[in-house]
Amino acid sequence: MKKFTNVNKAVFPVAGLGTRFLPATKAAPKEMLPVVDKPLIQYAVEEAYEAGIRHMVFVTGRNKRAIEDHFDTAYELENELETAGKEALLALVRSLTPDDMDCSYVRQPRSLGLGHAVLCAAHIVGDEPFAVLLADDLMTGRDGGPGVLAQMVETFREVQNSVLAVQEVPLEHVKRYGIVAGDAVGERLVNVKQMVEKPSPEQAPSRLGVAGRYVLTPGVFDKIRNQPRGTGGEIQLTDGIAQLIGNEGVHAYRYEGKRYDCGSKEGFLEATVELALRHAEVGPAFRGYLKSLKL
Ligand code: UTP
Repeated sequence: MKKFTNVNKAVFPVAGLGTRFLPATKAAPKEMLPVVDKPLIQYAVEEAYEAGIRHMVFVTGRNKRAIEDHFDTAYELENELETAGKEALLALVRSLTPDDMDCSYVRQPRSLGLGHAVLCAAHIVGDEPFAVLLADDLMTGRDGGPGVLAQMVETFREVQNSVLAVQEVPLEHVKRYGIVAGDAVGERLVNVKQMVEKPSPEQAPSRLGVAGRYVLTPGVFDKIRNQPRGTGGEIQLTDGIAQLIGNEGVHAYRYEGKRYDCGSKEGFLEATVELALRHAEVGPAFRGYLKSLKL
């Protein structure tokens, strides 16, 4: 089998409807909701870039134009900032798309599920390993440590098969996740033997829930293509990955860091408060404000 060395491409499925965030997501993409001062999608793109990935592939849908504009050159804005001598803001705007970063966009014509969204990117990814990042899971690495995707790319180089980010979730929440079970093969690694999408607490084989970060081999595309529709009539990514278990193998990696489920209102608010507290500019004053609240 050929040896995989680099992961060069990341797929960002951003074609979902974001119904849990209505009415905010009626006309605006969920992935453009800002946590403090950056949209969710930018956190995910920065995490991929930090992991050494330079080609970002966005799977978009209707109402998602703002994402394309965010990663495009903004001539008028840049011109205005330049004329006004606002160098710091100009550098900030330009830093969103470093010169060595490429972006591709592909449409998912109908919301047929995450597996289908990933499949829409197959012709751009080609026959190489790739990352998948769900921007509504905002992930932070341990303080001063590598980001979650960088940890996973490192793990992928070691194990040479697909790697899923996992965390322990409360039993009453297993039905919100893809759940994996298998043999522990290291402090943070599990050789996956079983994977089920959104099981009931009684049917869950473990409490290891998959978070929105994956490094996958291209073999997953054929598995997704040939599978019947899964839970909720959708083409599930979990079902495709589950079919890799028996032949190529799949590992689950307990990431170091924290996940905020920004697809839900609670998770989004937690991320906003915690990242605001850590923010260099607004953090100290915001901490003071929170302490002043009579809760
Ligand atoms: P979610 O399950 O969070 O769905 O999808 P959603 O539609 O975005 O949000 P809710 O549940 O209605 O509030 C997880 C990720 O998969 C993408 C979403 O954009 C999100 O990043 N996705 C989902 C697609 O790109 N296409 C799909 O058909 C489904």
